[in-house]
Amino acid sequence: MSTSRNRIILDCDPGRDDALAIAMALASSAEIDLAGITAVAGNVPLEVTYRNARFLRELCGFPDLPVHAGAARPLVRELETATRHHGESGLEGVEVEMPARPIESHRAVGYLAETLEASGDQEITLVAIGPLTNIALLAVERPELMAKIREIVVMGGASTAGGNVTPAAEFNVWADPHAAAVVFECGRPLIVHGLDVTHQVLAAPRHAERLAGTGGEVARRLAPLLHPAAGSRGDRFGPDRSPIHDPCTIAWLIRPDLFATESVAVAVESEGTHTLGETVVDWWGVTGRAPNARWVTEADGEAVLALLTDRIAKL
Ligand code: BDR
Ligand code: CA
Repeated sequence: MSTSRNRIILDCDPGRDDALAIAMALASSAEIDLAGITAVAGNVPLEVTYRNARFLRELCGFPDLPVHAGAARPLVRELETATRHHGESGLEGVEVEMPARPIESHRAVGYLAETLEASGDQEITLVAIGPLTNIALLAVERPELMAKIREIVVMGGASTAGGNVTPAAEFNVWADPHAAAVVFECGRPLIVHGLDVTHQVLAAPRHAERLAGTGGEVARRLAPLLHPAAGSRGDRFGPDRSPIHDPCTIAWLIRPDLFATESVAVAVESEGTHTLGETVVDWWGVTGRAPNARWVTEADGEAVLALLTDRIAKL
C-alpha cells in the first residue's frame, strides 16, 4: 500500500451527489482507503440516508463496507430536508432496491471515536459531505480525539457564489449551522469545497451519456445523477447543466492539482435573521484572525468530471 493512500471515513447524507461521491471513492482504491460510512440526516431523513448508503455499497460491490447511522436531526434546529431536489428516495432518477445487509450500528459517533482511537496519529481523514452534526458531536463528546484526525475535507458553505438555500447560506451549513460552527472552530485542518468551487464543476448531458455508455451496470444506473435534479433552477448554469458538489471532495483527495485554495479565516453565522448558516470568509484579513481553513476557490471542472466518470465506469 502506498503511504500516500488516504484512509478516510465518509460522513454523508445520500443524496444524489453523495451517491456519486461514494461510488467515486469506492472506485478509487489506489488512492483512497474508505474505512466506513457514517450517515447523517440532511437531504432526506436519517433512515433514508443510511438505507441509501447500504444500497450503494451493495450496488458498487462492497457489501462489507461498514455503514453506521448517526444524528437524526441537527443540534439545535429542526430538520429541514432537500427532498425537493433529491426526491423522496434521496436518489431521484435511480431505481433503489432494499439492501440485503443490515446496518452495522446506530452509533456513528461511537464508531468515529473507536476508529480514531485505534488509528495512528493523523492517519484518518474525515470527508464530510452532509450537515456537520456527527462531526460536531464527536468534537464535543470526545475532544481529545480530534488531534488524531489528519484533516477534515468538507463540502459546505459559500462565499462569492452566494447561497443555494438562502441568499447567504449553502444547504449543508444552513441545515446545521451550530454544528458547522463547532467544526470550523475545532482546530483541525479544514479543506472547504463550497459553492464557490462546486459551481465550476458543471455536468452536462454529455457527461451522463459518457458515463452510461462507457461503464458497466453501476455506471449505467448512476448516470442519471449527472442530470439536473428535479426542481433545480432552470438554466441558471447553462442548458441542462448542474453543479456536482460532493464528488469535489473525493477528486481533491485523488488530484489536488485540479484545484486552487486560499488559506482564510472563516466564521459560521448561527444566529442571523437573513444570514443564518452563512460562511463569512475574511478575504482581506480584516479580522486579524488566523486562517482556520483552506478555502477551495477554483477547479478544473472538466477534469474533475472526467475523473468522476472514468472512475465510476470502472466499477
Ligand atoms: C450540498 O447540499 C446537498 O443537497 C448536496 O448533497 C450537497 O452536499 C450542496 O449544497
Ligand atoms: Ca450531501
